[in-house]
Amino acid sequence: MYFKLNILIGTMTGIAQLVAQEIELRLDGEGIAVDTMEMDELAPAVFDRDGIFLICTSTYGQGDVPDNAKDLYEALCTQRPDLSHVRYGVIALGDRTYAETFCFGGKRFDKILGDLGARRIGELMLHDASAGTLPEDEAAEWIEGWVALVDEQIRNEASRATAQS
Ligand SMILES: Cc1cc2nc3c(=O)[nH]c(=O)nc-3n(C[C@H](O)[C@H](O)[C@H](O)COP(=O)(O)O)c2cc1C
Repeated sequence: MYFKLNILIGTMTGIAQLVAQEIELRLDGEGIAVDTMEMDELAPAVFDRDGIFLICTSTYGQGDVPDNAKDLYEALCTQRPDLSHVRYGVIALGDRTYAETFCFGGKRFDKILGDLGARRIGELMLHDASAGTLPEDEAAEWIEGWVALVDEQIRNEASRATAQS
């Protein structure tokens, strides 16, 4: 099934960007139009775009979102737009060495999007940098299952809309 995928990247040293690039490569030719955006200077209005959203972000400081994601995250928390039309997934990059705040960047986005009415598709992908695996390899595998769930969700919503009309 055709759909549009907006990947929003929160990163400090570019690993989340590599992950997004790998996903774009994997989905090439699968009928999914991927649009990748760094979170720098994005406002909550980005969620007015068509399609499904994938948050791909690392964690810094004391379990904070990376610097380039701060403005968007804080604007969501203060402006509190209604995001009930939004369907999203999360790839959270972190390191279990930071046991108390593991993958909090992605978890924070998941919490605020959920609070604003958006619905997550599937479970979060959590990557542990101390595990010795490459996040782009894990993401390439994870994205297959996630895209199948997105397909299912789109079909279910379309058949519910037909049944109601
Ligand atoms: C200074 C610093 C602080 C970090 N703080 C956390 C943290 O609190 N929790 C966590 O899970 N990972 C933390 N990390 C790990 C990064 O999120 C992880 O290495 C990630 O893959 C970096 O991706 P990026 O290059 O896209 O920013 C920290 C890394 C650094 C260098």
